[in-house]
Amino acid sequence: MLSLWHKIQRRFTLDFWIRRYLLLREKLEGVDFSEVIEVEELGLDPNLASHSAPSGNEYLRNVLNQVSISNRDAIIDIGSGKGSAMRIMLEFPFHKVDGVELSPQVAEIAQKNFNKLKIPRNRYELFVMDATNFKVLDGYNYFYFYNPFSQTVLEKVIENIVSSIERAPRIVFIIYNNPKYNSVIISEGIFNKIAEYPDEWGNKIFLYSNQVGA
Ligand SMILES: C[S@@+](CC[C@H](N)C(=O)[O-])C[C@H]1O[C@@H](n2cnc3c(N)ncnc32)[C@H](O)[C@@H]1O
Repeated sequence: MLSLWHKIQRRFTLDFWIRRYLLLREKLEGVDFSEVIEVEELGLDPNLASHSAPSGNEYLRNVLNQVSISNRDAIIDIGSGKGSAMRIMLEFPFHKVDGVELSPQVAEIAQKNFNKLKIPRNRYELFVMDATNFKVLDGYNYFYFYNPFSQTVLEKVIENIVSSIERAPRIVFIIYNNPKYNSVIISEGIFNKIAEYPDEWGNKIFLYSNQVGA
């Protein structure tokens, strides 16, 4: 909850007005990618999950532009929220842009957004479930996280990715936006951080790979 003073201060920043403009533009378009929903409103445990906030912006577009995507690549947004990041991923020639989202309420908004934008159903799939139980990972070589959950949840998801690589050996890239638990990825011993990029809030976006010599 923001204090009254904090709310008043926010009104006078340029960011605040840019955000208001973005929300208004989305309302006119009939979509909702950017209105933040707090964890408590979703009935999720704040110790395990982050709020539903968007990261589909020019910073993510910049990262994807640097990594030369082709139609042999497939990406999954783990904790896909309302589909904001997926919307940007869909601009690239991935043969598959999927998302896994714990909250049915949020996933439904993502589905409505994609319907409104008439995104072909064969370009994406939304899985509504806990990412720790989502183990059908062998078809993806890009994994995206926008700081969606706690360290313990991330550990389980990264273990699932490592098991998938052992089962189906391949070069994999992890894009971690606001990499709060960078050590979880590095400590697996198979991923190296190969690049870092700016993000919207000064937190950075890290790119990792298991590619030898990358
Ligand atoms: C910060 S939002 C990110 C939204 C989207 N990735 C983007 O960048 O635009 C994080 C999302 O992760 C979801 N989430 C939290 N815990 C999860 C879990 N265990 N499995 C799947 N999704 C989860 C939340 O409900 C929330 O919608």
